[in-house]
Amino acid sequence: MTVHGGDVWQVAGELRIPAGELLDFSANVNPRGLPPGALARLARDAADPQLLRYYPDPSSRALRKALSDHLGVPAEAIVIGPGAEALLSPALQSLQAPRALVPVPAFSEYRRVCAQQHVEFVPFPLDRADSFRLPVSDLCDLLQRERFGAVIVNNPHNPSGGLLEEDEVRQIVDTGTPVLLDEAFIDYAAHASLVADAASRAGVIVLRSLTKFYGCPALRVGYAVAHPDTARAIQALLPTWPVTQFALDALTVALEDRAYAEATLRENAARRETFGSQLGALGLTVSFRRQLFIAGVAGRHATRGGDTPAPDRAPPHPDSQLRFLRSIRAGPVCAGGRSFR
Ligand SMILES: Cc1ncc(COP(=O)(O)O)c(C=O)c1O
Repeated sequence: MTVHGGDVWQVAGELRIPAGELLDFSANVNPRGLPPGALARLARDAADPQLLRYYPDPSSRALRKALSDHLGVPAEAIVIGPGAEALLSPALQSLQAPRALVPVPAFSEYRRVCAQQHVEFVPFPLDRADSFRLPVSDLCDLLQRERFGAVIVNNPHNPSGGLLEEDEVRQIVDTGTPVLLDEAFIDYAAHASLVADAASRAGVIVLRSLTKFYGCPALRVGYAVAHPDTARAIQALLPTWPVTQFALDALTVALEDRAYAEATLRENAARRETFGSQLGALGLTVSFRRQLFIAGVAGRHATRGGDTPAPDRAPPHPDSQLRFLRSIRAGPVCAGGRSFR
C-alpha cells in the first residue's frame, strides 16, 4: 500500500479515468513542468534509437559539471542518484549512525529508511502552535546533551514550508553531530543552502532534488553534496547506472535555463499570496502563510488520510489553481498528508 501523495496511478485506477486527467495537488512539483529546452532535449533523445543502445554515463559527468558550475562546489563532491529519496538510504548508511534525531512531522521516508538501515528513529516533536518551526537552540542543546549518530534536518521544512537561515543550520552542524540535510526545496531559497559547507566538511551531507523545482518527478533525478570521501562512499552504495541518459541530458539542459528559474521564483512568491487569499475567501483556514509554501489548508471540506495538515504544493499554474478552487467549492478534497510522520 502506498503511503505517499503523488500516486495518481492508484487514484486513476479507483476512479477509472486516465491518470493524465487528474490534477495532482499531493506532490510539491513546479506546475510549469520541464523548461522548454529540456523538454526539447528529451524529445530529441527519445527520437534517437542509437541512444537506447548505450548504457547511461555511470559518472553522470555532464550533469555533475553543470551542477558544479551552478553551485560553486567541486564535481567530486556531487553524487547523482534517482531522486533525493533514493539517496537517503546510502547517505544515512555512510554516516553509520546507531540512532538519528528527526524533527517531526517529517517526510515519511526518513522513518522508513531508518528502519531499513536499523537506525533508531528518535522523534523531536515540533510545535503546531509555533507553525512547526524548528527551535534550533533547543535542538542543539539536546544534541550536546545526548549522543546521536545523526540528525536529519529538512530545510525548507515539508510540510510546514518553514525556512531556517544558513547560520541557524550551521549552529546544528557546529554541535558536531553528523547532519543529513534534506534541501529538496531549497531552490526556492537558495541563499540558505549549506552546499558549500557540505562539500568541504566531513559530517554534513546535503540532499537535493531536481524533480521538484524542474517539474519532472517522472524522470527521478536528485543529488547529494558531501566531502569528496563521503561522496565516494555514497556513490559506492548506488547501482552502477542509477539514472537514465534521457533524464541526465534533460536535467543538464534544465539547469542552464536561468530565466525559467527566475520566473518560477517570481511566480511562486506572487501565487502563494493570491492562492492563500482565495482559499481564505472560501472560508478555509490557511496556516503558515508567511512561509515558503502554503501548508495546512483546513476547513469545512474533508481531507483524506493525513495525520498532519495537508502540505501544499508549490502554488499551481493559474489554470490548475482555478480548477483546485472550483473543486474545493464542489466537494471533498483529497490530500496526501500520509507522506508525513
Ligand atoms: C522533504 C522531501 N525530501 C525529498 C523528497 C523526494 O524528492 P525526489 O523526488 O527528488 O526523490 C520529497 C518528496 O516529496 C520531500 O518532500
